[in-house]
Amino acid sequence: SQVPYAVNEPVRTYEPGSAEVKSLISTYKKMWKEKSAIPMVIGGKEVKTKNEVPLKSPQDHQHDLGFYYKGTMKHVDDAINAALAAREKWNNLGWEQRAAIFLKAADLIAGPYRDRLNAATMIGQSKNVHQAEIDSACELIDFLRFNVEFMTEMYSEQPVSDNGIWNRAEYRPLEGFCFAVTPFNFTAISGNLPSCMAMMGNVVVWKPSDKQILSAKVIMDIFTEAGLPDGVINMIFTSGKETAEKVLSHPDFAGLHFTGSTSVFQSMWKLMGDNIHNYKTYPRIVGETGGKDFVMVHPSANVDAVATALVRGAFEYQGQKCSAASRAYVPKSLWKDVKKVMESQMKTIKMGSPEDPSNFVNAVIDQNSFEKCKGYIERAQKSKDAKVIIGGKCDDKKGWFVEPTVIEATNPKYESVCEEIFGPILSVYVYEDKDWAATLKLVDETSPYSLTGSIFAQDRYAIDEAYKALENAAGNFYINDKPTGAVVGQQPFGGARASGTNDKAGSKMNLLRWVSVRSIKETF
Ligand code: SER
Repeated sequence: SQVPYAVNEPVRTYEPGSAEVKSLISTYKKMWKEKSAIPMVIGGKEVKTKNEVPLKSPQDHQHDLGFYYKGTMKHVDDAINAALAAREKWNNLGWEQRAAIFLKAADLIAGPYRDRLNAATMIGQSKNVHQAEIDSACELIDFLRFNVEFMTEMYSEQPVSDNGIWNRAEYRPLEGFCFAVTPFNFTAISGNLPSCMAMMGNVVVWKPSDKQILSAKVIMDIFTEAGLPDGVINMIFTSGKETAEKVLSHPDFAGLHFTGSTSVFQSMWKLMGDNIHNYKTYPRIVGETGGKDFVMVHPSANVDAVATALVRGAFEYQGQKCSAASRAYVPKSLWKDVKKVMESQMKTIKMGSPEDPSNFVNAVIDQNSFEKCKGYIERAQKSKDAKVIIGGKCDDKKGWFVEPTVIEATNPKYESVCEEIFGPILSVYVYEDKDWAATLKLVDETSPYSLTGSIFAQDRYAIDEAYKALENAAGNFYINDKPTGAVVGQQPFGGARASGTNDKAGSKMNLLRWVSVRSIKETF
């Protein structure tokens, strides 16, 4: 049987004054006044505790959004047990039934839940309407629909047989339960990680980031309304470190699907190593972690295209995409012009709450992030190796606002050129045109991460040189485009080195990690 052929969900444009934007902003305003009390969901039941943790919005840290119920290690145990209890029935359900649930979830997001999920993302994670739309609506819908299609393609891939022999591949779920740990910065990733494992027949304990609970709750509501049986995905709000210790030492733990920081992923990998003798099966490990994504500009590049890519790539969603452009290498012959275009574009950028859709830049996620950005800016202002040439203001009176900032560094090893900041700060290193080849080498050598990167050039030989010199420096490599905004089904996303295991999100490569194949040979 065939599933509906997946096509990318059309992105709504939210023109000023349109019915679409009015409806979304009115949902935002309504949700802004709701005092949420968000429970965990374990075995299909809402679980409340005495530990009520306030929910805050990055754009207004005093505003009361209600609270979520924080759980303890007992709830982690309960979630594991609920997952294991649901396992057999879920395993035995035909893939068509599983597919139907996730296709329905995609339709619910595309239709009745779209405003609510987008508004939750705007309030809780401080995304503007467009950034919310491409994430919590389109990308999550795409993940669900494309993964269903990839799953069915995978199931139909069978070995050859011969007269007298029938060979089959049975795509079985992992033996045990899976663990999804998801980040604040993409609602789509938070929905994709648990759902793609569940789609393949697995049962899941899901721990969303405590900065994304508002939209995680909407996702869980959608899965439930779509008919996901109790216990298949269990959503817990518990302390990260202790939860990891508990989950990763369980004998039935079978797979980790993680997006977050490199250091947390590495500490979880160590825990799995320590527990390797306890497991029933070797766990599958998929992680997408940090990045320090580059834009490499050749003297033949188009100035306007470079400037636009830098402004959009570095400052959309306040630079908090793992794919964000955070360092640029620009030839001296172009820098004056690139800078001029960037300055004129950045003058028009408005910063403020997503409630006003004309605000291109919103707040960074929390106080830690605010202080971190401020620290990099203040040190650059005093450094002999760098100067702040655009932006630099930080304002935490109402929300965590950091102005889009460009640091020009004269030392390519300067901290802001090399370290992941995860905020609206772009570092530029200007190189002598004659040093193009050496600078390519430098970019590769200063890339402990390898997530995304761009090359801008009109000269085809230069493109080819960069293509080869940077072959391991970016899992997603863009030619004459910004390094952000990968589309499911078009640019499968993920990188290697310290950026992750490179099991591209939203692809068959990723889904294969969540099955344990049985080869069957039958002789007649
Ligand atoms: N997929 C996102 C992007 O490409 C990052 O997770 O921007």
